[in-house]
Amino acid sequence: MDIFFSRFSVVLLVLISWNSFTTTEAYDALDPNGNITIKWDIKSWTPDGYMAVVTIFNFQQYRHIEAPGWQLGWSWRKKEVIWNMVGAQATDQGDCSKFKGNMPHCCKKTPTVVDLLPGTPYNQQISNCCRGGVISSWAQDPATAISSFQIFVGQSGTTNTTVRAPRNITLKAPGPGYTCGPAQHVPSTKFMSPDNRRKTQALLTWNITCTYSQFLARKTPTCCVSLSSFYNETIIPCPTCSCGCQNSSLAGSCVDPKIASVVPALGKNNLEPLLQCTNHMCPIRIHWHVKTNYKEYWRVKVAITNFNYNMNYSQWNLVVQHPNFDNITQLFSFNYNPLNPYADINDTAMLWGIKFYNDMLSQAGPLGNVQSELLFRKNPSKFTFEKGWAFPRRIYFNGDNCVMPPPDAYPWLPNGTPNLETSPFIILLITFISVLILM
Ligand SMILES: *[C@@H]1O[C@H](CO)[C@@H](O)[C@H](O)[C@H]1NC(C)=O
Ligand SMILES: *[C@@H]1O[C@H](CO)[C@@H](O)[C@H](O)[C@H]1NC(C)=O
Ligand SMILES: *[C@@H]1O[C@H](CO)[C@@H](O)[C@H](O)[C@H]1NC(C)=O
Ligand SMILES: *[C@@H]1O[C@H](CO)[C@@H](O)[C@H](O)[C@H]1NC(C)=O
Ligand SMILES: *[C@@H]1O[C@H](CO)[C@@H](O)[C@H](O)[C@H]1NC(C)=O
Ligand SMILES: *[C@@H]1O[C@H](CO)[C@@H](O)[C@H](O)[C@H]1NC(C)=O
Ligand SMILES: *[C@@H]1O[C@H](CO)[C@@H](O)[C@H](O)[C@H]1NC(C)=O
Ligand SMILES: *[C@@H]1O[C@H](CO)[C@@H](O)[C@H](O)[C@H]1NC(C)=O
Ligand SMILES: *[C@@H]1O[C@H](CO)[C@@H](O)[C@H](O)[C@H]1NC(C)=O
Repeated sequence: MDIFFSRFSVVLLVLISWNSFTTTEAYDALDPNGNITIKWDIKSWTPDGYMAVVTIFNFQQYRHIEAPGWQLGWSWRKKEVIWNMVGAQATDQGDCSKFKGNMPHCCKKTPTVVDLLPGTPYNQQISNCCRGGVISSWAQDPATAISSFQIFVGQSGTTNTTVRAPRNITLKAPGPGYTCGPAQHVPSTKFMSPDNRRKTQALLTWNITCTYSQFLARKTPTCCVSLSSFYNETIIPCPTCSCGCQNSSLAGSCVDPKIASVVPALGKNNLEPLLQCTNHMCPIRIHWHVKTNYKEYWRVKVAITNFNYNMNYSQWNLVVQHPNFDNITQLFSFNYNPLNPYADINDTAMLWGIKFYNDMLSQAGPLGNVQSELLFRKNPSKFTFEKGWAFPRRIYFNGDNCVMPPPDAYPWLPNGTPNLETSPFIILLITFISVLILM
């Protein structure tokens, strides 16, 4: 009866917290203002068109764009051509046979533009370009959450009444999920000279806002969560088939780790995963282990494992919801930022790797994991090991919701457990005794 009741309340608890976050999929309660804004600043007129600087701002707290990077597409309104670009390039020149002598960079009605790669010669760069289309999330690094290029447009009209903004602007990569609104004429951007002594302004500025919707992305899940605790030896694995089944029509797209050394991996990031065979078939698994119980604190170990041979996840991030994040005390080897969409709830945190140390989650294999420990201060009015309270309510990896085990499968606190605490006093005593023995 007791067990039934506590299981029932866990289900209820999780259902309630689930419900309050999945109301409208297109709206992200954890990042209500998150968007990508594209600013198109015309800075000068040319004999047959204009020169503009196009800047992509990733205002999303925890969604970033990783290698192979962004791809921006649009549709011209008139007979525009791109004479030249700096810091980016069109992927296809198209049919420029009407031109003689000076050839345009691109004549397509619907060009697709990509960033240049790091290492591009300086004379082909502008600031914030040439990172291979990789853009950080705003919370992780606002300085690299921006990407820019310069574009010289011809046959476009040469005054603010004859030019037309491009339409159908699309973030072709990272792909489905992002929807961009129409270009809007906004007050001209003001620019400050690097020495801060002279202000200039764009001749004309258009803004385009793109928003992400998990519903539109309609992706199969890409990550799952497994759980364990010091008080119960059962390890709760990721649910079977969380991200796909080994026996599905996609069978054969996974690799036995025993033969991984002969895996036909591409050696560069590819959006098509090449997975190690697992029961969950997810590229990413997050393991949450409730590790230690102290008198006033408790400790969790979080480990992220990569099962994808085709991806080094740079600048990965986790978003974790747990009611004890309002009292997080210490965090080892990850960065931390609270996500506080509502000032009175502080239960969601963003975690990410430390630059040059573990900000890269390597492809599947011996190096394909990162881990950290979190120390929480107990809030006596809330804290309990019962009813699965110590486990996260939900986890996102790189902005994707991870599949959790069903709450009635969580490791249970054994019945009638006396005192689970590891008292700091006992630890001290043991240390003291062992020091004595060693002497
Ligand atoms: C886009 O995000 C920025 C920064 O959070 C915000 O100021 C702006 O209002 C957002 N734009 C839209 C259209 O939501
Ligand atoms: C176009 O430019 C003229 C002068 O350069 C200015 O007076 C006018 O307000 C501008 N119109 C728009 C729509 O920006
Ligand atoms: C551009 O958008 C219009 C309507 O918004 C649509 O009819 C047209 O098919 C789109 N064109 C392309 C190339 O996507
Ligand atoms: C246009 O985009 C810029 C850059 O993101 C932003 O600062 C500005 O507020 C936007 N303007 C409008 C009117 O949305
Ligand atoms: C595929 O495997 C899963 C678990 O391994 C099983 O539940 C399912 O019934 C299988 N489907 C088929 C069509 O064999
Ligand atoms: C990941 O990085 C390692 C080390 O830099 C490299 O050897 C490997 O080819 C990369 N894999 C992918 C999929 O990019
Ligand atoms: C949320 O937690 C962080 C870190 O503990 C703290 O800096 C911040 O002030 C808290 N915010 C609220 C509203 O409690
Ligand atoms: C936990 O955090 C909340 C909100 O920030 C605060 O009111 C409370 O005193 C903290 N509890 C402990 C035990 O630190
Ligand atoms: C540990 O948790 C599992 C899964 O909920 C449960 O079946 C088992 O009875 C628990 N073990 C003990 C010793 O309570």
